[in-house]
Amino acid sequence: MKKHLYINGQWESTANYASLYAPYSQQKIAEIPQASQEVVQKAIHAAYKAKEAAANTTAYERAQVLEQLVQLFVQHKEKAARIIALEAGKPLKYALLEIERTIETYKFAAEEAKRLVGEIVPMDAAKNGHNRFGYTLEQPIGVVAAITPFNFPQNLVAHKVGPAIAAGNTIILKPASQTPLSALFLAELMEQTSLPKGAFNVITGGGKLVGDVLVESDQINMITFTGSPAVGMDIRNRAGLKKVTLELGSNAGLLIDKQVNLDEIVSKCVVGAFSNQGQVCISLQRIYVMDTLYDEFLAKFVAQTERLVLGDPLEMTTDISALIHANEELRALDWINEALANGAELATGGKLQNRILLPTILTNVADHLKVSCQEVFAPIVIVNRITSIQEGIEAINQSQYGLQAGIFTNDIQTAFMTSKALEVGGVIINDIPTYRVDQMPYGGVKESGTGKEGIKYAIHEMTETKLIVWNQS
Ligand code: SIN
Repeated sequence: MKKHLYINGQWESTANYASLYAPYSQQKIAEIPQASQEVVQKAIHAAYKAKEAAANTTAYERAQVLEQLVQLFVQHKEKAARIIALEAGKPLKYALLEIERTIETYKFAAEEAKRLVGEIVPMDAAKNGHNRFGYTLEQPIGVVAAITPFNFPQNLVAHKVGPAIAAGNTIILKPASQTPLSALFLAELMEQTSLPKGAFNVITGGGKLVGDVLVESDQINMITFTGSPAVGMDIRNRAGLKKVTLELGSNAGLLIDKQVNLDEIVSKCVVGAFSNQGQVCISLQRIYVMDTLYDEFLAKFVAQTERLVLGDPLEMTTDISALIHANEELRALDWINEALANGAELATGGKLQNRILLPTILTNVADHLKVSCQEVFAPIVIVNRITSIQEGIEAINQSQYGLQAGIFTNDIQTAFMTSKALEVGGVIINDIPTYRVDQMPYGGVKESGTGKEGIKYAIHEMTETKLIVWNQS
């Protein structure tokens, strides 16, 4: 089915189209418009022109648009989830959870739209501040270009579109090339809301060219990007004075202390490591287990992993399906083979079955091997033995990334000490590092990115603080 771009409240065709194939069935599912440079400029112009109308909406009106989106997603939950399962290969049960989260994300955005407040500045705290009254306003930043990844094609879009609307900005959304259908479905829903015309635009295809035009345009005020560190750093280097927030990768680590109840932990680790085939920025990639519990943990973890159901993402019973592209499976296999050739041992998995990479557990993996030190973005997890929590902290910190990390422990001192010492944006105590709810601040340190998401925090990134000072003397 031939799709269209959504620009200035209209559906537009383009000169070029590319076929989109489902990752699992390999069947053609749509013809996707490939935006040219002129088309991207048209979308930028529409968003630029709509800036004033969007900025002049009241908080009540912006919240109303977001509440309308909430209702539309509730109404079309099943359809939105099926689109994700089809185009991204995400098993339907996880796709449905993603839509539930999307609904919640837009709800939070609607609520936060009504709480967009500045603050009173205590001017007279300074010697020269006598008789001055100061306060700040949080004003919309302007035009936001949102470049989004394939792994959460609705909820990670909602994390950019929701706050942008709440703050009174206009948006150009450029979804990942493998998941344009979710973004175009969002445009269909957006069309039914009272958002001003031109305030939301979707452009698809066009690859790097589209990104380049967005990054270089002086009509765009902010780029918000989720994706690979290489692309993120390139955007930042070329964005000039535009504001840039980057949510990049990680190789999330978990510490398992002695004396914890493994029966409560193992199933969480299975979900953390293998949901969406490990294609999650905070997927559990490295597990460090205290010596005394190591053998028992590994045996239970392998047994539960081997019970996962492989298959078609459109079946509710499926736990694991195909990776986003066949070349990703080959890359993941290469990384597994590199580890095995360098002393690691295979506890389970390690091969392809039809188009599906079996959930893979590796042990005794050296820190410098790719499955440990790079972002694996595949159903692969390493389990290493440690003799102290300090050793585990050092292993987790020995990474170019730092998004989230976790620790299971019964010892409160250990929990405090670890949360302080881990070099990451978020520490999850007594849960997996994959834990996320959508209002919490989310964003990494080191090569995991810069700036925060989580609705309130993203809104803050998407506004400019303006100071007003009255001289009362
Ligand atoms: C991500 O992959 O960065 C998002 C993870 C999530 O929202 O659960």
